Amino acid sequence: MNELTQETSRRRTFAIISHPDAGKTTLTENLLLTGGAIRMAGAVRARGEQRRTKSDFMNIEKERGISVSSAVMTFEHRDNVINLLDTPGHEDFSEDTYRTLTAADAAIMVLDAAKGIEPQTLKLFEVCRLRDIPIITFINKMDREAQDPMELLDEVAAKLALDPAPIFWPQGSGQRFKGMLDLRTNEFVAFSRPVARQQGLITHDRIPISEIGTILSAAEQEELKNGAELVQGGYAHFDLRSFREGHMTPVFFGSALRQFGVLDLLDGLVQYAPPPHNSKANIKGVAGEIHADDAEVAGFVFKIQANMDPNHRDRIAMVRLASGKFTRGMRLKTSGGKQIGVHNPMMFVGQDRELTEEAYAGDIIGIPNHGVLRVGDSLSQSGNINFKGIPNFAPEILRRVFVKDPLKAKHLVKALQALSEEGVTQLFRPEIGADLIVGAVGPLQFDVLVERIKAEYGLLATFETCTFNGVRWIAAANKSDMDNFVDRNKSGIARDIDGDAVFLAKNNWEIGYVAEKFPKIAFTAIKEREIA
Ligand code: G4P
Repeated sequence: MNELTQETSRRRTFAIISHPDAGKTTLTENLLLTGGAIRMAGAVRARGEQRRTKSDFMNIEKERGISVSSAVMTFEHRDNVINLLDTPGHEDFSEDTYRTLTAADAAIMVLDAAKGIEPQTLKLFEVCRLRDIPIITFINKMDREAQDPMELLDEVAAKLALDPAPIFWPQGSGQRFKGMLDLRTNEFVAFSRPVARQQGLITHDRIPISEIGTILSAAEQEELKNGAELVQGGYAHFDLRSFREGHMTPVFFGSALRQFGVLDLLDGLVQYAPPPHNSKANIKGVAGEIHADDAEVAGFVFKIQANMDPNHRDRIAMVRLASGKFTRGMRLKTSGGKQIGVHNPMMFVGQDRELTEEAYAGDIIGIPNHGVLRVGDSLSQSGNINFKGIPNFAPEILRRVFVKDPLKAKHLVKALQALSEEGVTQLFRPEIGADLIVGAVGPLQFDVLVERIKAEYGLLATFETCTFNGVRWIAAANKSDMDNFVDRNKSGIARDIDGDAVFLAKNNWEIGYVAEKFPKIAFTAIKEREIA
């Protein structure tokens, strides 16, 4: 095995998705703690607090108790390099989650054992399903009264159309929680509440089922035996291929807060989650595939992270490497011809950022830049590689935006353009009139936008409801059909930041009506950006 193959095959890049409060932060902390990347649990939160108090923009997170911007953290576990991508735990930012998932090879879905899949979370998980990304399920908070675990499995199957394959089976919950049976080995992992938070590989006693009488009462043994028999007969057995194709989810149980089941989860991740995937790309204009151990360094920007350090209004392009061995100082080109010398590539160890000397496929490097790179850009040594773009989704909420001082209108356009390139919101400019229309998937995106326009551009922007409530990208095979459509619907035609035409509608009914009237026009709710 050559160095490249060896290095890429030991990498696991994954994202955690969950509903707010299900325990994502706690699990993240304890995964980092288990991997030795932080010294004390609570560090993620403590650092978060520190950061929040320093930045206006972060106040939104603090007030609403949500995490708006996703970060990445790298640590090692049993000779594997683990890249953990954080996602915003709120449905309003599901587009952000989607973009982050383009950079992940797998996801851990955290469910609160008492709540299961909550309606607001469904949208986030659907985004995951959209990408057919392998999902590992972690049912958290077993140290509290939980729902019947079988009902939780049925919920996963029914709401997400995923085959649940339990790897463990819990015995009781809350005060009656005794631990869980490893269905693969028939060993019982005994639960104990830790005295204090511990670091490193926290293991729990594994008791062969034949000796289980030492910790379970006769009634509990009976309950465990029946439960295990039922799930083994009633649910599919774990199948690696089906998991990796995105049809099956292995189910783990535990308590992130009590550091129980976290190591088993991490071991499961290393064992089951795939190494860096091959990526579809155009190579010199021809459709092909980039392999993780190809020699040429290539990757793509999946996120722009602004204000990581509020003292230095910085902008960092987060690049997921898809192939090759990256070394510091390398010159990379976008497929559009922009050249960048990468002298200060960053990796994120624990919650600290460090300069990195080298990186491989699956790794995420941060490239500081001042607006040169945008979300969806492909980077490679030759400049000949163009990854399939990261899509934009048609916004569901549209607002007219303006500044009181007309002299500042130009600045506002600049701000909206830059923030749109970052993927905060989308900007549309109607062909008639001087209105600026901003679109978002969820209302919280507007709050972030207002704060950032104020903090970074010193502008007080005002948003108003407008007559439009729906938007679709439009295209036609013949120019004359398009011209005819534009001519007859002038007041609804606008351009996005790439100059692509969209149709702004008063409501969904109008979209359907117009689409029926103009069958030669294609109306699409998802746009894949073509990169020149
Ligand atoms: P999030 O990032 O998904 O929003 O969730 P977070 O980890 O912040 O956890 C939400 C709450 O649930 C926290 O309590 C946390 O301590 C608790 N929690 C997480 N995992 C477990 C678990 O396994 N068992 C139990 N019993 N509780 C758990 P909080 O009171 O909101 O915050 P804090 O005061 O503990 O910081």
